[in-house]
Amino acid sequence: MSRRIRLLVLGSVSIWLSAIATPIQLPGQVRVASPDGRTQVTVLIQDGRLYYQVERDGRSLLLRSLLGFEFRGATPLRDGLQIVDTARASFDSTWTQPWGEVSRVRDHHNELKVTVAEAAAANRRFSVAFRAFNDGVAFRYELPAQPGLGDFEIQEELTEFSMADDARAWWIPSNRPRLDRSEILYASSPVSVMDSVQTPVTMETRDGRTFLVLHEANLVDYARMNLSGGRLENRTLRAALAPMADGVKVRGRTPFVTPWRTIQVADHATELAPSVLGLNLNPPSAIANTAWIKPMKYIGIWWGMHINTMTWSSGPKHGATTENTRRYIDFAAANNIGGVLVEGWNVGWDGDWIQNRNAFSFTAAYPDYDLPALAAYARQKGVRLIVHNETSGGVQNYERQMDSAFALYRSLGLDAIKSGYVTDLTSEGHSHHSQFMVQHYRRVIEAAAKYGIALDVHEPIHDTGERRTYPNMMSREGARGQEYNAWGGEGGNPPEHETILFFTRLLAGPMDFTPGVFDILIERGTGRPRRLEESRVRTTLAKQLALYVVLYSPLQMAADLPENYAGQPAFQFIRDVAVDWDTTRVLEGKIGDYVIVARRERDGPSWFVGAITDEEARTFEVPLTFLTPGRRYVAEIYADGPGANWSSHPLPVAISRRVVTAASRLHLALAPGGGQAIRIRPAR
Ligand code: NOJ
Ligand code: CA
Repeated sequence: MSRRIRLLVLGSVSIWLSAIATPIQLPGQVRVASPDGRTQVTVLIQDGRLYYQVERDGRSLLLRSLLGFEFRGATPLRDGLQIVDTARASFDSTWTQPWGEVSRVRDHHNELKVTVAEAAAANRRFSVAFRAFNDGVAFRYELPAQPGLGDFEIQEELTEFSMADDARAWWIPSNRPRLDRSEILYASSPVSVMDSVQTPVTMETRDGRTFLVLHEANLVDYARMNLSGGRLENRTLRAALAPMADGVKVRGRTPFVTPWRTIQVADHATELAPSVLGLNLNPPSAIANTAWIKPMKYIGIWWGMHINTMTWSSGPKHGATTENTRRYIDFAAANNIGGVLVEGWNVGWDGDWIQNRNAFSFTAAYPDYDLPALAAYARQKGVRLIVHNETSGGVQNYERQMDSAFALYRSLGLDAIKSGYVTDLTSEGHSHHSQFMVQHYRRVIEAAAKYGIALDVHEPIHDTGERRTYPNMMSREGARGQEYNAWGGEGGNPPEHETILFFTRLLAGPMDFTPGVFDILIERGTGRPRRLEESRVRTTLAKQLALYVVLYSPLQMAADLPENYAGQPAFQFIRDVAVDWDTTRVLEGKIGDYVIVARRERDGPSWFVGAITDEEARTFEVPLTFLTPGRRYVAEIYADGPGANWSSHPLPVAISRRVVTAASRLHLALAPGGGQAIRIRPAR
């Protein structure tokens, strides 16, 4: 018997609570289903242990999977458990993002909270809250304050994800010698041979009927979750938390809640994006006035350092000079580009800047860089100067200076920072993704919010939807970006790379990939076209344009040197492309092969389409049914030109225009490693 109480109705928000009359259901099994009824979670006790399992359309997705904890200095919270209480709620509301891939997000879910307690001894208790959405399932632990559980040290979180199918997965490892990096190429394999992986990890069942993404949401005061393989025919993945220097994963005190563990589900790869499951699991904005937080395109004194035409350090090739920065500001102002990033402006880059992490000053500029004058010049030109803060993982050095630095930037009217954490372990010996570091990154977000500063974080903690609560946390790296195409030795990112990123890393949130390199063979850096086996860009030029639409970021860089855009008709697309979206539709997509995305700009009628392929040439017929019926538009098309291919002929771009309507179809021909970018604006 359940009693339904309508608690409140506020616009579109309605919350229902059901009090279950009989809290203990024997044999200890309870269920919750998604609003569309297709996805069902069962929570059960077996032999005193707590498990969950997930079905979709009556088919098993996750088999019985364990829940619980191992502590240091206390017995595991795992055995002799019984369900002592359950509570249900339903929720349906729609909220508006200050910026994003879509403007409106619906949060529609059913919740079941199961409370369990040890039958014997300390009688410790905890709850697991499950939420079933149409696009996935999430759960988190809640440890209430109680006599038997106060301060605790988590040694292992015992959460399992026992995959029913030996699905094909796309993943990056989490157990390489440089274990703290996410800048690794994706691999693809059956789940059963995955060893230890980072999230989000994306899977496709062998029958192609279901796509699943395992990740986490609202990581605030906890260690980042990786997954390691192991048991049950090697299809059971287990939470593997990033450790602190002493091996402890999480220190806390009850009452305490963990991040959400998320299992996104979809019938088609194209339905995975835009992914809003994680956003719905983060609290609403803590920033009352978000009007100052504005998406933008930016250029930077940056690529030159990566291709060796400039240095971060002082000397004859120092990039961050007052004169050079003025040139970049002028270029941005003349080309509809909102920001200019300047790296290497501050003292600390001379010598080994990774070892000398504590030598970085975040307020003292090199003598040839006049920060106040440039801040004033940028403001006068309507351009935002983006301050760079590389920490090399010296977080105490950074935290010591943070307040005075942010106050300085604010006093100069500077409201955006790109930060960086190039290092493996922190100076204190903690994992880059440990609770210690999660707390640090959060402190930076909060301090930046206080001073009215937006963030673009490189070498970040992976994105778990923080931008909903802190919309100043705009973009981050956290995967192999364009920079890998500049460096010697490794050969750069392969042509399939971005077609995987879209369905993996980008499901977590925006990525500062830094597209838009036109000098594909990096001739200006090297003095000659780079050879095939060297690091170089492994796309056509048209694909670089398409990435502005495909790889979402509210801070979208035009990465190349301004001189490489001179006299390039294709640069017009970068001038025109929007960076904030009302609507996003994935029109076609196969993980690792191709993807076509259409997005409508926020507060405007124009659409942009980006199409990219891997090393295979492909053609598509794209119906423009997303356009407003009866309206005439002009499609400005930037396609791979005759004979284009990524390896030997990357530069030809064919630019054309045609009038289109919602009834039109576009024929897209993508070259090997190629792409196509289209702006569709109303006809005048
Ligand atoms: C790595 C970042 O990804 C890159 O963008 C930056 O230029 C360097 N670190 C130096 O901070
Ligand atoms: Ca990086």
